[in-house]
Amino acid sequence: MYFCTNMRIDIITVIPELLDGPLNHSIVKRACDKGLVEIHIHNLRDFSKDKHHRVDDYPFGGEAGMVMTIAPIENAIQTLQSERKYDEIIYTAPDGKKYDQKVANRLSTLTNIIILCGHYKGIDQRIRDHLITMELSIGDYVLSGGELAAAVISDSIIRLLPGAISDETSALSDSFQDDLLSPPVYTRPADYKGWKVPDILLSGHAAKIDEWKHNEAIRKTERLRPDLLGED
Ligand code: ADE
Repeated sequence: MYFCTNMRIDIITVIPELLDGPLNHSIVKRACDKGLVEIHIHNLRDFSKDKHHRVDDYPFGGEAGMVMTIAPIENAIQTLQSERKYDEIIYTAPDGKKYDQKVANRLSTLTNIIILCGHYKGIDQRIRDHLITMELSIGDYVLSGGELAAAVISDSIIRLLPGAISDETSALSDSFQDDLLSPPVYTRPADYKGWKVPDILLSGHAAKIDEWKHNEAIRKTERLRPDLLGED
């Protein structure tokens, strides 16, 4: 079968090595090998005109820490934009909008996206004001940089591309797709030292099994994430 999704993700970072591992295995690697997505990782320092390839400077106002400067980031984004049009230019930072499955679903329908990984104290606010179209946080905690967030975002988008997962419906049955956690899963043996698989799953009755899975998903969501059901 041939799928021609052909998405392109450009990631701009000061630590390209951090992205090699997470994006070079499993479903993401297979999606790249099948030509469903191209991932290009760019070292921000290559876009710095400074003779030491600096990309940061001291903050105005005397705070501690360093701030990523405008020029190399603008240069990187403009270089990419001169080659193609981008649907979103995303900045990963703890003070961005909370990333979730709905955002992942929408991003998976786009063609070209840039992800700029934040570092140090963050980027000069003027980049956010003038160049960034979307700011995303993967959770209310602070990472050392935006690279792991960029990997999380890329992985969650790529697995949704048609053809990325062999059984295409399986991404649709992921947790969160219906605002529900996914039901428990079991495999052989059916009885492990007295720990038994629920009888219904061995019954061969497809409709009853589907009903059981749906009810289990609701029960689990009520127990663990009532907020998803609007119940908190
Ligand atoms: N960079 C640092 N912390 C982050 C977070 N929680 N989400 C996205 N990018 C980040």
